[in-house]
Amino acid sequence: MVDVILGLQWGDEGKGKIVDYFAPRYDVVARFQGGPNAGHTLYVNGEKMVLHQIPSGIFHQNTINIIGNGVVLDPVTLKKECDKVAAMGIEVKKNLFISERTNIIVPTHRALDKASEMQKGDSKIGSTLKGIGPAYMDKTGRNAIRVGDLLDKGFISQYIKLRLKHQKLLDNFNFNEDITAWEEEFFEALEFLRTLNVVNGEYFINNKISEGKKVLAEGAQGSMLDIDFGTFPFVTSSNTISAGVCTGLGVSPKQINEVLGVTKAYCTRVGSGPFPTELDDATGEELRKIGSEFGATTGRPRRCGWIDLVALRYACMINGVTQVVMTKADVLDAFEDLKVCTAYKIDGKETEEVPFQMSRLKIEPIHKNFKGWNIDTTKISEAAKLPAQMSSYIDFINGYIGAPVKFVSNGPGREQIVSL
Ligand code: GDP
Ligand code: IMO
Ligand code: MG
Repeated sequence: MVDVILGLQWGDEGKGKIVDYFAPRYDVVARFQGGPNAGHTLYVNGEKMVLHQIPSGIFHQNTINIIGNGVVLDPVTLKKECDKVAAMGIEVKKNLFISERTNIIVPTHRALDKASEMQKGDSKIGSTLKGIGPAYMDKTGRNAIRVGDLLDKGFISQYIKLRLKHQKLLDNFNFNEDITAWEEEFFEALEFLRTLNVVNGEYFINNKISEGKKVLAEGAQGSMLDIDFGTFPFVTSSNTISAGVCTGLGVSPKQINEVLGVTKAYCTRVGSGPFPTELDDATGEELRKIGSEFGATTGRPRRCGWIDLVALRYACMINGVTQVVMTKADVLDAFEDLKVCTAYKIDGKETEEVPFQMSRLKIEPIHKNFKGWNIDTTKISEAAKLPAQMSSYIDFINGYIGAPVKFVSNGPGREQIVSL
């Protein structure tokens, strides 16, 4: 049986905290897509930790953590992260498993990401520049190196072949930064990677399922950044939605049970691309300040706006969301008036559907107004104590998106969550 936790917006919904909270109920936590573009923040004994490659179950002694075949893995980031986690007293090697089929990010993937973004100029994606797009291109282009290849004698010639191919592309981009230092740390990190538990991932996970173990699949990015259903081309390069769990871990759709979708009580986006409810004003600034909305991976300020129910309902539909977790509800404590977007106005016509090509359209959000609750909710732990205005806000959202908000997160701490 596999449950899923994934993002319903443009990423950074608070998935890391939520996975960490639920992890004790599971035997296995598995990442199924994305790579070090992810930044999942957790607080462990009051200490902040941002995970990019390691699944967010790593801080629980009895939880096995798997990096699945759908992930693109940067050995350098992984090594640094393992060192950090180990320094926090965690036996990281014991509980971390990596699929042989996981694709590797090589230094030239990062260079290509940078070169491609530079060439795009004003129309750049706003990539995290971690090499994600080029790494997935080599996967679908059937050129990639996978973790299992590291143990093969032919690895070096495979690497050189790929390196030469990338060099030609980089020359075309006129990219001539020296990446020798990146390569040095890459080869050092490969030695470390060889010491980790590399497994036949799909057998490993299906055997666990057959033994009756509970698996939690941890999404990265968000549904609106999905390569097929997001705001293309301003998306990431993987399937971030629940369907990605099957291809990213090798589990059958029949095994998928609960799909927990995480959304902020408002909305943010980092990087370029359409964002209909974006607030380019003092209110947006206030959300950024109170919500500390700065990227966990790149430190970039996040664009902020009201919750977009058109996009949220779409995300619930394509994911088959069974329960919603609403995070950062406490950030709205400070606001006297709130808005939720219930429709888009495009060329004078109202629609409740996400259009094909958002980035070519001028979309005006239609809002419904709500009174704020204006009290400090960060210490509330029971549903009955939540302010009535927050309940009305949530009731309306439940009705609109057709999936129930079952948990409200009211602070970054592990214990700051209210079950409804
Ligand atoms: P992820 O990528 O989805 O895991 O989210 P990030 O870690 O990138 O961003 C979420 C940020 O919000 C982190 O700084 C979290 O510590 C913080 N956070 C998560 N849940 C809450 C919450 O309920 N309230 C507040 N104030 N902060 C939260
Ligand atoms: P988590 O898992 C927010 C965004 C980038 C850029 C676009 C493509 O922490 O929610 P990429 O590096 O994939 O080529 O970037 O996607 N992006 C994210 N935004 N949270 C993330 O991950 C993101 N991962 C990628 O900002 O707009
Ligand atoms: Mg993040």
